[in-house]
Amino acid sequence: MIDMREDETRAAADGPIALAIIIPVFQESANIAELAARLAAVLEGVAWEAIFVDDNSPDGTADAARALARTDRRIRVIERVGRRGLASAVIEGMLATAAPLVAVIDGDLQHDEALLPRMLAAMEADPALDLAIGSRFVAGGSDAGLSDKRAAQSRLATRLSRGAIGADLKDPMSGFFMARIETIREVLPRLSAIGFKILLDIFTSARRPLKFVELPYAFRSRGAGASKLDRAIAFEYLVMLYDKAFGRIVPARFALFSAIGALGVAVHFAFLTAMFQGANTSFAAAQAVATLGAMTFNFALNNSLTYRDRQLRGPKQLLKGWLSFCVVCSVGALANVGVATWLFETRHALWTLSALAGIAVGAVWNFALSSRFTWSRF
Ligand code: GDD
Ligand code: MN
Repeated sequence: MIDMREDETRAAADGPIALAIIIPVFQESANIAELAARLAAVLEGVAWEAIFVDDNSPDGTADAARALARTDRRIRVIERVGRRGLASAVIEGMLATAAPLVAVIDGDLQHDEALLPRMLAAMEADPALDLAIGSRFVAGGSDAGLSDKRAAQSRLATRLSRGAIGADLKDPMSGFFMARIETIREVLPRLSAIGFKILLDIFTSARRPLKFVELPYAFRSRGAGASKLDRAIAFEYLVMLYDKAFGRIVPARFALFSAIGALGVAVHFAFLTAMFQGANTSFAAAQAVATLGAMTFNFALNNSLTYRDRQLRGPKQLLKGWLSFCVVCSVGALANVGVATWLFETRHALWTLSALAGIAVGAVWNFALSSRFTWSRF
């Protein structure tokens, strides 16, 4: 006698690919094998693949994933070099699959993989459903695995996002969800891809209300490895919210670059006052030191904030980056003075307007060229 159920199961597992699990990983080598084993267990009977997206972790995360992939064709690896970022890693993973459904799960075992089959059932039951979301904040869910401090931060971030989403989503910070790939492709051109919060990015990028369900799960505490959420990530979150609100008018990166430039002016004056007024240095020497000081300050801040995703590290990269930044800014300063002087002397514009126009030209120049030469991707 033929066991129908078993046959159907086998047909599903061997059939066309149904589901891709995207797993952003950074420094998770100790968790890879365990997660892959758990996925294989809960997804029995489903034609799935798992795509680990690693950003060239120094602990051999990608090697650990490749070791599995050599004997299990359902496991795939994307390794990015010279790039960082959870949201962008997830997007690249999603673009690398032919599966009609994609799920995102953390690579540190904090998300409960047992929820995946239920997400899949929900998506299959309702073709109009865009997303099935793992939620800590619907009945039956919990965030007990987070420290009190992290839980409070997460709640604050959730509150901040309220206005931006326009949907009654209880856990918009969730990094655990399943989506239809068409929905992802629909929002793709508008995604910010900044920072940690890809789900929020998807919701705020959609031009229509997305249909979703939230399924409860308990967020576990972390076993091996450490969280990547730090102050810079929290800052990136604010940058993403900015990008959603005003990014079309002034791009987030340029706004940040300019704000840091304005701080640089304050640094410049601090140096200048200390040396010229305080220490009797000649004006030219004080001005030169102040200029270098401000450029170095701007370089450091842009490197850790504006270009965090392409951050330069190590003495060699930093020195090269700093030098190219100084060259770019020096030319920018010449352009600034040139334009302002031309406006003022030849076109007889107001001196304040001339100065502002010069500053604007210098800022755009510095931004454009430093993104090309100082923080070029490769
Ligand atoms: N490729 C890549 N690049 N992966 C990264 C990066 C990166 O720059 N940064 C973090 N990851 C990976 C981690 O290795 C982990 O698998 C996952 O992304 C989540 O990072 P964690 O550092 O463990 O995040 P968390 O535990 O603080 O935050 C979690 O809780 C949030 C709920 O508030 C994450 O699950 C979030 O997705 C979730 O929204
Ligand atoms: Mn985690």
